[in-house]
Amino acid sequence: MKSFRLSIISTIVRFASVFLIFEFILFDSNAQTAPHAGDLLRQMTIEEKIAQLSQLPGFPVPEYTQQVGTPIDEIIRKYGAGSVLWVSDPKEINRLQHIAVEESRLHIPILFGLDVVDGYHTIFPAPIAMASSWDPEMVEHAQAVAAREARAVGIAWTFAPMVDVARDARWGRMVEGAGEDPFLGAAMARAQVLGFQGRQPVDSEHVLACVKHFAGYGAADGGRDYDSSYIPEELMWNVYLPPFKAAADAGVATFMSAYMDLNDVPATGNPWLLHDVLREAWNYKGFVVSDANAVHSLITHGYARDGDDAAYKAFSVGLNMDMASGTYLKYLAGQVRQGRVSAQQIDEAVLPILEAKIRLGLFEHPYVDESRIDPVLNSAESQSLARTAVQCSVVLLRNEGKILPLDKNRIKSIAVIGPLGDADLDLLGLWGALNKPAPTVSILQGIKNKLGTGVRVEFAHGPNIRRDIPSVFEDYPMITVKEQPKQAPGGAKRALDEAVATARRSDVVVLALGEIALMSGEAASRSSLKLSGGQEELLEAVSATGKPVVLVLVNGRPLDVSWAADHVPAIVEAWYPGNQGGNGVADVLFGDANPAGHLPVSWPRTSGQVPLYYNHNRTQAPEDAPDFTSRYWDISSQPLYPFGFGLSYTTFSFENLKLSQSEAKIGSSLDVSVDVTNTGSRAGATVVQLYIHQRAGSASRPVRELKGFQRVHLEAGAKYAVQFRLGPKELQYWSPSAKKWVIEPEQFDVWVGEDSTAGLHGEFRLIQ
Ligand code: NOJ
Repeated sequence: MKSFRLSIISTIVRFASVFLIFEFILFDSNAQTAPHAGDLLRQMTIEEKIAQLSQLPGFPVPEYTQQVGTPIDEIIRKYGAGSVLWVSDPKEINRLQHIAVEESRLHIPILFGLDVVDGYHTIFPAPIAMASSWDPEMVEHAQAVAAREARAVGIAWTFAPMVDVARDARWGRMVEGAGEDPFLGAAMARAQVLGFQGRQPVDSEHVLACVKHFAGYGAADGGRDYDSSYIPEELMWNVYLPPFKAAADAGVATFMSAYMDLNDVPATGNPWLLHDVLREAWNYKGFVVSDANAVHSLITHGYARDGDDAAYKAFSVGLNMDMASGTYLKYLAGQVRQGRVSAQQIDEAVLPILEAKIRLGLFEHPYVDESRIDPVLNSAESQSLARTAVQCSVVLLRNEGKILPLDKNRIKSIAVIGPLGDADLDLLGLWGALNKPAPTVSILQGIKNKLGTGVRVEFAHGPNIRRDIPSVFEDYPMITVKEQPKQAPGGAKRALDEAVATARRSDVVVLALGEIALMSGEAASRSSLKLSGGQEELLEAVSATGKPVVLVLVNGRPLDVSWAADHVPAIVEAWYPGNQGGNGVADVLFGDANPAGHLPVSWPRTSGQVPLYYNHNRTQAPEDAPDFTSRYWDISSQPLYPFGFGLSYTTFSFENLKLSQSEAKIGSSLDVSVDVTNTGSRAGATVVQLYIHQRAGSASRPVRELKGFQRVHLEAGAKYAVQFRLGPKELQYWSPSAKKWVIEPEQFDVWVGEDSTAGLHGEFRLIQ
C-alpha cells in the first residue's frame, strides 16, 4: 500500500513540482513517530550505518566524485544519509528528504546542514561585531532569529558558532569569531549555542549548533589560513579551549574538527583533541563532524597514506561524521569486515547522530512547510533586532572635538564617499551573503533614510577595491558577493578627483572604507593591514579638503588606520554590519543611538606588531618600566586602541572599588563591586570590565586577564553599583609545571574600568 502511494507521489514530484505542497501535507500527515535510536540501530546494515556517518555534498565536490562517484540521490535511496551539506532551497530539501523518508529502507530523515553564522535572511552584524556589543543576551536573541529562519526552510543544523580565539589580524577568519579573549569568547559561545538550540530538547523553531573549529585554527602560522598551528598545551587549556568548553557546557549538539595541523597532528585525526580532551576530559556525548573534505585531506597533510588510512585515522580517534569527502563511505565498511574497526565502534558513532535527529523531531516532521517560510523570514521584529544589533556593536574609536553625533538640523549637505559607501552585499560579509539575505540597506541609503529630502546627500565611489589574488569563492555559484570590477586605466584617478570635488561642495564627509566581503573570512588572510587599493590616498586627499571627515570602517579585522588616528576627527568601526547596516550606522552617526561597542581585539598600529594581544605575560623589561618604553625601536609596542576600548557620546566614571575580603580561602569566592556613574549629559551604555593578575606562582601569568564584564545602560547623571564574583573558575589556570589546573595561594591584582588599561585598582590574597 505504502509503495503504491509512493510511486504515484514520486511521479507527481518528478513531473510537477507545483504539487510539492500537497505532497507535503499528504506525507506529513503520515509522518512516522520517532523510533528509539537503539531499535533503529539493530535494524541497520553496516552500509546504512556508514551512510549516517556521512555528510553528502549538495554541490559538486571533486574528492567526493573521485572516491564515490555515485550521485547523492542514489546513495540516499539505497542507504539513507546522515546529512547533506549546503542545500538550502526548500524545494530541493523536500525532494531529497522524500527520497530518504519514502524510498530508503529505514526511512531515516536527513539532517540538512548549512553555515548560518550571522543569519539566514535577517543578516546580523558579523560575529566579531556581535562580540563588540559585549551583550550575550542580545547575541542569544539574534541567533534565535537565525535558527527560526533556517529551520523554516529546512535547515536543522548550523555550522556555528565559530569560537576560534584569534590574536593575529592577518588571519582572515578573525571576523567569524569573538576576537582574542577566552573569557569573552566563552560568553559569546554560550550565548550563541543557547540562541541556536534554545533550551533542551531542541524544538521546531531551533537548530542544532556546531561549535568550530576544534581547535587552535586561529593560531595559524603567519596568519595564513589553513597553516599549521603550534600551541603549547598550557595555551590550549588557558586560551584556545575555554570557548569550546563553554559551548559544550551549554549543551552544544555537535563539534567540527579544524583543518590545520595542531602541533604536527591534523586536528581531524588528532587523538589528543578528539579523544583525550573532548571525550575523556570533557565527557562530551554529542557528535563530531570534520570540516569539509578534511578527512580526505589527511592524505594531503602527509598524515595518512591513502583514503583507507585517512578514514581509519579520523574514525578511530572519535570523528563521527565525514563532511563531504566520501572517505568513510568508501572505506569504513571494508575496515569493519577486516575487523580493524569493530561493529560496536560504528554503533557508538552512529547513535548520537540518530539521537540528534530524534531530538529535532525530524522523524515526525521531516519536510519543509513552504507556507510557513514567508512569515518567518519577513518579520519586522527580526529586522528591528538586526538594527538594534548594529547600534550595539558599532565601536566609536575616535571623536575629536565631538564632531559626532552629526546634527541633522544644521547640516545642509553630506558627501558619502568610498567604495563601501553604497555597498550592499559587502556589508554582510561572506557567510551573510551566502544565504538568502533580506534587502541590504547601504550606508548611503541609511543616511538618506535618516535625513529625508531637506539635506543634499551626494555619493562618490572613489577607486574600486579588489583583492590582488582573487578569492577561490568567487567561482562558487552560490556565492553572490563578488569583487568590484576592474577600473579602466585612469579610472581610479578620475574617481579620486570626483570624490574630492564632492567633498569640497559638502558640509561634512562620511568616508566608508575597508574591505569588501571577500577580503575577510575563509581563504582571505593578508600580509598587510593597510587600507588597500587607493583607499589611503582617497582618505588623505579627502581630508586635505579641510572638510570634517567621519571615517566609517567596514571590515572583518582591525586595519592599519594610524594616519587616520592622527588626522581624521572621527572613526567609527562598523565591521560587516549586516542587512540593516546602513540604518544602524546612520542611527549612530546622527545620535539616535549612543555607541557602546568595545573592541574584542587589541587594535594593532601595523601588521608588523601581530600577533598582538593584551593578555601577554610580563617580561623582564615591562612596558611600564621607565627606561624601556617599547619592545621595538621604530614604533610603540602598544596597540593603537587597546582590547576592550570604545567611546560613547557620554562619559563614565568608576569609583569605590571594593572587595568583599582582602584574603580568601582557595576554593571560596570573593565579591568585587564598583560604582559606575554616567557623568555626561545624555543616556548611554558602557561595558564595565574586570581584569585580574596573579603576581607569582608555578608559572608566569598574563599581565591582565578579563574575568568579568557587564554592559550597563545609565541615564545621564545616574550611578549604579556593579557586582562581580571571582570564584574558583575565574582564579584557576592550567599550569605547565604542575600539568594540571591549579589555584595558587598568591597575591592578585584587580582592575575595573572601560578597557584593558583600566586604572582603578584593588588587590587580594588567596590562602590555603
Ligand atoms: C569550510 C569552513 O572551514 C567551515 O567553517 C564551514 O563550516 C564548512 N566549510 C562548511 O561550509
